Amino acid sequence: MAAPQPLAVTRAATTEQQETGGAGGVRTRRAVRVLLFLAAVALPCLVVYHYRAVAPADVLVRRGAAAVPSRLGAPRDDDVDLDGEDARLERVLRGAAMANDTVILTTLNAAWSEPGSVLELFLESFRTGDSTRELLDHLVIVSLDTAAHARCKLVHRHCFALVTGGVDFSGQKNFMTDGYLKMMWRRIDFLRQVLEKGFSFIFTDTDIVWFRNPLPHFYPDGDFQIACDHFTGDPDDLSNAPNGGFAYVRSNTETIEFYRFWYAAREKHPGLHDQDVLNAIKRDPYVAELGVKVKFLSTELFGGLCEPSRNMSRVCTMHANCCIGLRRKISDLNAMLQDWRRFMALPRHYKHSVSWTVPRHCSLQKLEG
Ligand SMILES: *[C@@H]1O[C@H](CO)[C@@H](O)[C@H](O)[C@H]1NC(C)=O
Ligand SMILES: *[C@@H]1O[C@H](CO)[C@@H](O)[C@H](O)[C@H]1NC(C)=O
Repeated sequence: MAAPQPLAVTRAATTEQQETGGAGGVRTRRAVRVLLFLAAVALPCLVVYHYRAVAPADVLVRRGAAAVPSRLGAPRDDDVDLDGEDARLERVLRGAAMANDTVILTTLNAAWSEPGSVLELFLESFRTGDSTRELLDHLVIVSLDTAAHARCKLVHRHCFALVTGGVDFSGQKNFMTDGYLKMMWRRIDFLRQVLEKGFSFIFTDTDIVWFRNPLPHFYPDGDFQIACDHFTGDPDDLSNAPNGGFAYVRSNTETIEFYRFWYAAREKHPGLHDQDVLNAIKRDPYVAELGVKVKFLSTELFGGLCEPSRNMSRVCTMHANCCIGLRRKISDLNAMLQDWRRFMALPRHYKHSVSWTVPRHCSLQKLEG
């Protein structure tokens, strides 16, 4: 396990000390027990009665009750890797899944998890969106480092620490650096693992703000549905420019094999982003042979800074894509939330007059996923 929990351990140790009072506490308890024994056996009834009526019995009862929170405060199984990553993942997914085994997943590193950073705006969007708050019950935040995991546990219910042998994903990852690529590919492999467990998912980058529930808007016949930087208008057009930051994937044998193939294809395309490899393989005859049904999602519903949704009455999500630099991303995500609040506050007849004020701090060029 990569992420021992300093917070939980500290809390548990403190509780332990309070309850037992350390070794001294044990000695005191033993002495109390001996006294009680003597009181019951050797002393006259009156004295026993008096003794019981006062403190010691009460103290013992209270101590017994206090032992329960101590056990709850101890590190839980998902902090201490008792039964391996696989079982831990299963348990977290199960806890967050909708009735039909669908989860919402995002991956997080330390730089994006800090207060005032991307994670805060992401979670805020679910709370200000139209019926999106309850979707938080189905969101699993997958942390790529210890700091992000600790932060997740402070602000969210479903957190999973992804173990990644020897790679530090904690810093701000700029587009196309080696660390960024490793992080992206680890994500593809992880998503394959989730599909193999039988869970369908909506994967969302954390720099995407959610305003409406996307589920009713997915194609009923699509296995793999992905958002686009630019949408040609045709969901079946392979020349659409997909963006791996948002995808809805049903768990079935076709999608599992598709993810396997996609991950393996990185070796044939060294130095390429998962998105570029996807573009390279989307026309591969093997993908057609697999029979995985690919659909491209409209930017009208799933927009971004590359191509903002033009209709705020329909938009589900907005992505801070086409934007380099954490500070710029944060500024434009903030602006999107402001635009949304302005839209929600207006009476119905005036809503059509509101449109996005973004991009403000980010460039419109296709630069970043
Ligand atoms: C799961 O349930 C949601 C909400 O009812 C629905 O929109 C979605 O299509 C379902 N997914 C699958 C894989 O059946
Ligand atoms: C935006 O979407 C709403 C709801 O679907 C629709 O009534 C309206 O005509 C759309 N506006 C534009 C400009 O397309």
